[in-house]
Amino acid sequence: MALIEAASPHVMNTYGRVPIALSHGDGVRVWDVNGKRYLDGLGGIAVNTVGHNHPKLVPALQDQVAKLIHTSNYYHVPLQEQLAAKLVALSGMTNVFFCNSGLEANEAAIKLARKFGHDKGIENPQIVVFDNAFHGRSLATLSATANTKHQKGFGPLVEGFIRVPLNDIASLEKATAGNSNIVAVFFEAIQGEGGVNPARIDYMRELRALCDRRDWLMMIDEVQCGMGRTGQWFAHQWAGIVPDVMPLAKGLGSGVPIGAVIAGPRAANIFQPGNHGTTFGGNPLAMRAGVETIRIMEEDGLLENAARVGAHLQASLQKALRGQAGVKEIRGQGLMLGIELARPCGVLVQRAADAGLLLSVTADTVVRLVPPLILTQAEADEIVAILAPLILAFLAE
Ligand SMILES: Cc1ncc(COP(=O)(O)O)c(C=O)c1O
Repeated sequence: MALIEAASPHVMNTYGRVPIALSHGDGVRVWDVNGKRYLDGLGGIAVNTVGHNHPKLVPALQDQVAKLIHTSNYYHVPLQEQLAAKLVALSGMTNVFFCNSGLEANEAAIKLARKFGHDKGIENPQIVVFDNAFHGRSLATLSATANTKHQKGFGPLVEGFIRVPLNDIASLEKATAGNSNIVAVFFEAIQGEGGVNPARIDYMRELRALCDRRDWLMMIDEVQCGMGRTGQWFAHQWAGIVPDVMPLAKGLGSGVPIGAVIAGPRAANIFQPGNHGTTFGGNPLAMRAGVETIRIMEEDGLLENAARVGAHLQASLQKALRGQAGVKEIRGQGLMLGIELARPCGVLVQRAADAGLLLSVTADTVVRLVPPLILTQAEADEIVAILAPLILAFLAE
């Protein structure tokens, strides 16, 4: 097939795509339709947890496809209970609602928070959200998202959000002082699309205490930073806290669409029959993908791998780039890393692809790496060997 040069004339034009079409993958490698091979530093944007064509995942999904793909939530789905029990054990929380994507999980969290408020007589519930947050593209999650570029053209937005800076407890206390309509605080433990910005550990602990004191739900969007990516099952676990509500998606199904909202005791019984639902949510194929993803992660030690290889990758990037004029910061945890440059660097996406490495640039200036959690140290070294010279050449322009 010839090089992909123009957008497909029939698919709606919603993405600024890199002119590459991938045909297959194996481990952390993918090949395009012309046979060119790439190292996958993007993992489908933090989705392909166990990489491509995993020898344990593929037969399990084939087995499930042959048995049942979809039934309906009219009936019990035993695999839902199996995955829910696992997520409850890993999170220290109590109940799970299944859906199909990150925005759906966040939409459910927002509805939970509102009903939590209504159930205690708050007619106009408000949720605290953060600068640089990204929670999705539905109207409510877009309204919780900070980026005005994403919001432009879609007003009126959903009301009921108060925005404050991250990692600044004084600002939050000031913005919410005397406001009895607040029902929840909603944040990413590490902001992804906003530029790989971690919430500080002490800040998350302060937030937990504040939520307890003021009877707010603590809702942590772990859609991107969760599912082992940082070396803990969930990134907030580095702070030793437990949220009341935790949306998940992306890596939970290793590429099969899935979303989940996990609730702790304060939020577990807010939804009653009829309050929320979805046709596809929790279908047997997606549930099997979740169950098998977690099984493989445990059997293959992928949390430990993410922590170890991620630390190595970050240290190698620091060694190659720190102190260079134009490199502002290299940050993140485990296999969720960002290299912030002093100027917009979107051109690096194509240059890296040309050099055989897939990655993304987020928040205009941050090169983001979110590879599959099976990445080896040697593959991490390969990423640095490709990426560091590209960044240095870019900075010298
Ligand atoms: C933190 C976070 N929340 C929510 C979403 C939305 O997820 P989805 O694209 O599956 O709707 C994303 C997607 O990038 C995300 O990074």
